[in-house]
Amino acid sequence: MKDKELTPREIVKELDAYIIGQEKAKKAVAIALRNRWRRQHVEGDIKNDILPNNIILIGPTGVGKTEIARRLSKLARAPFIKVEASKFTEVGYVGRDVESIIRDLTNIAINMVKSERILEVNAQAKIMANERVLDILLPPKSKSKEVITSETDEQFFRTREKFKKMLENGTMEDRVLEITVKKSSTPMMQIFGPAGMEEMGLNINEMLGNAFPKKKKVQKATVAEAREIFTKEEAQKLIDMDVITKEAIKRVEQTGIVFLDEIDKIAHSSDKGHGPDVSREGVQRDILPIVEGSDVQTKFGVVKTDHILFVAAGAFHISKPSDLIPELQGRFPIREELTSLGKTEFVKILKTPRNALLKQYTAMVKTEGVNLKFRKDAIEEIAYIAEEVNEKMENIGARRLHTILSTILEDFLFNLPDAKSKEIIITKKIVQEKLSSVIKDRDLSRYIL
Ligand SMILES: Nc1ncnc2c1ncn2[C@@H]1O[C@H](COP(=O)(O)OP(=O)(O)OP(=O)(O)O)[C@@H](O)[C@H]1O
Ligand SMILES: [Mg+2]
Repeated sequence: MKDKELTPREIVKELDAYIIGQEKAKKAVAIALRNRWRRQHVEGDIKNDILPNNIILIGPTGVGKTEIARRLSKLARAPFIKVEASKFTEVGYVGRDVESIIRDLTNIAINMVKSERILEVNAQAKIMANERVLDILLPPKSKSKEVITSETDEQFFRTREKFKKMLENGTMEDRVLEITVKKSSTPMMQIFGPAGMEEMGLNINEMLGNAFPKKKKVQKATVAEAREIFTKEEAQKLIDMDVITKEAIKRVEQTGIVFLDEIDKIAHSSDKGHGPDVSREGVQRDILPIVEGSDVQTKFGVVKTDHILFVAAGAFHISKPSDLIPELQGRFPIREELTSLGKTEFVKILKTPRNALLKQYTAMVKTEGVNLKFRKDAIEEIAYIAEEVNEKMENIGARRLHTILSTILEDFLFNLPDAKSKEIIITKKIVQEKLSSVIKDRDLSRYIL
């Protein structure tokens, strides 16, 4: 990870580009992220005693909990995984060990570092790939049977240079070649290892796959395709998996983020009896060691979880954070409540985030050569209706905007390719027309909006 870390203020500013409101939650995650950087720079043994500022985000559905965590991980360029805590209580998952979270996170980090490295060596790999294509087009001298004279030699060299230019200019892209590619030998049948092996992160097929020699296969390909295949092969040769593994594990340990969604579903609701609660508490007890810090065995080596940042989220309608087992509560010292969203926020959410819904639809419509525009009062009407429907039916937060917009735009999107006009302007009147029948009919709106 580069040492150009964002300050909390900068983190919040970046988050602002995607998430409207929820200032307190944004601030809390920004501090947590910066504290991690601070910890890494602390001198001496005390460094190892500094714990991550694990956070619980509390708030109704669709108000930005997951979005905040997801954006945060992108900012931090950190390995990130989102898991539903409740899934460990489901039938079939009971007893599934929660350590798989860390193994999955490690896989994510490996892929992340690997693709970074591949990007770094890509230019070089492409040069080597071009050479290989050239060797096929014009096999090197030693292999050809011609008598070597200085004359043919020079001519050969010149042709090769000419071909090389053409390859670089892309004037031979469609020419078909015969290439030999390595096929990773996939055994004819799936071999199942002894139970528990997968749990340990070991894959018997993968292990056997390495034991069999790689098969070669001749196939036809255009120059463009061949270059792509060779570039991948050469890049693989240029990267060092040991270095990647080491870096990936370091990144998981030092910067990894685990987003534990639906944590409220594994909390005891105090008014309920026994039954499923036993397994809920069981899941909490299972999760505890990885949150507290433990060694998890992955197929890439041992991963220490002490400094992984855990961000938990839940609606906590029925249960409260205080219904979690005390040890777990202690590990999540920061609690932030997210507020439910209303008309004012919806107007902004529609318009301003970098990935705002209106921007998305405008970009899509543009691909058919049509300009899609929304009048100001139309946007306000959409926001107002979203708020209304959320109040009358069920509050699903900003998610309501998705359903409302798709209802409004359905006909336009259907007719788009045949449209005569180069512009669609959505007015308040159109919004009302498209939605009025749906809104009047409560049953209908339950299905559509
Ligand atoms: N404050 C916000 N600003 C911008 N967009 C938002 C905001 N809140 C929600 N959204 C949009 O709504 C969608 C749902 O939000 P998100 O996934 O964060 O919900 P959540 O709070 O995690 O809900 P749940 O409890 O159901 O998981 C996101 O795709 C996001 O684009
Ligand atoms: Mg969520």
